[in-house]
Amino acid sequence: MPDHATPPTGRHSAAEPTPDAPSPAPAIRATRRDLTALSAPERARLFADVPADPGSAKPDPIIVVDSISRTFGGIKAVQVDHLEVQRGAITGLIGPNGAGKTTFFNLITGFDKPDSGTWSLNGASLGRMVPHQVARRGMVRTFQLTKALAKLTVLDNVKLGATGQRGEHFLAALAPWTWRKQEAEITERAHELLRRFKLDAKADDFAGSLSGGQRKLLEMARALMTDPEIVMLDEPMAGVNPALTQSLLEHIKSLRDEGVTVVFVEHDMDVIRDISDWVVVMAQGQIIAESLPDRLGDNDAVVDAYLGGHHDQPLEFDDRGRPVGATAVLAEKVEAAIEATLEEGGDLSEVTELPDTRRATDEKDGTR
Ligand SMILES: Nc1ncnc2c1ncn2[C@@H]1O[C@H](COP(=O)(O)OP(=O)(O)O)[C@@H](O)[C@H]1O
Ligand SMILES: [Mg+2]
Repeated sequence: MPDHATPPTGRHSAAEPTPDAPSPAPAIRATRRDLTALSAPERARLFADVPADPGSAKPDPIIVVDSISRTFGGIKAVQVDHLEVQRGAITGLIGPNGAGKTTFFNLITGFDKPDSGTWSLNGASLGRMVPHQVARRGMVRTFQLTKALAKLTVLDNVKLGATGQRGEHFLAALAPWTWRKQEAEITERAHELLRRFKLDAKADDFAGSLSGGQRKLLEMARALMTDPEIVMLDEPMAGVNPALTQSLLEHIKSLRDEGVTVVFVEHDMDVIRDISDWVVVMAQGQIIAESLPDRLGDNDAVVDAYLGGHHDQPLEFDDRGRPVGATAVLAEKVEAAIEATLEEGGDLSEVTELPDTRRATDEKDGTR
């Protein structure tokens, strides 16, 4: 393991315990590793020699997972033999609906318990830990604005992240007679994050009044309260107005540019190619492929997982892995079907038939 005790980057000084604090606030990590940001060429070099195989070893993994499995009533939702997540990079996790991506996130962040398996963060096992313990060690996942959370203010939603994602302990943790100092620190940090995501003007509004895109920003702000080394984003762009997706993407990239490791689930392949340094593909609970984003089209397993059952003609991809010709039309139809279902608030597992495309894709010249 390389030594990560590199000089401080100067970020998040608010999270450091102050000298006169009687004890470090339990909510914000008392110790943190200093994050080392990698440049684009450095990241490219890191992945250059990584084989495009499921479970391939990474030069400096922050997460290592072994033989993790989770069954729901006879269905193997997750059955991952081995996975390493590279530190300081963006790993895109893709796969058809029901592939087990969300369950996998839940397992390694302590929101769900596997039937078996081991997994570690920075070499330390996370088995049997609950979410706030995992968060204190540096890994968080975003979670959606539920009905109950929508009735809290935007500021309170962000502050909630400090309790290690355990809403039920939120009010107790903020009781002023027990944690007056901590409360001030948490509020300060929450405002800092709201400014970062340009939500500060909304601090006192009910979270339920936010637009879809603003909710996603709020979810990210909340996740960052514990000063994580790695964030797990489950479909951060789902249901977001296209005008806002670019800004969400920039926020995700800027996390990486500060040295935060990002794992994110996304359906839009253009987005995946735009921001991932590495892509992991799941299907039926397993990791079926890993690859550089622009090599996905080379992988038969990926092509089958996405387009299997629908193709009666050879699939074609250009030298950058983008679908061309009839394959592009097919890919577009699949994307449109997913998009339409999401817009209606439906469940993607219900998409069995491809509807007519809403755009005149058949007239396209296929150079998309
Ligand atoms: N709480 C649950 N109870 C029963 N089955 C579940 C539960 N959560 C997920 N599943 C099942 O596990 C499989 C994987 O689901 P999920 O992890 O949500 O996939 P993805 O996020 O890739 O769409 C699916 O078959 C799904 O129906
Ligand atoms: Mg999911």
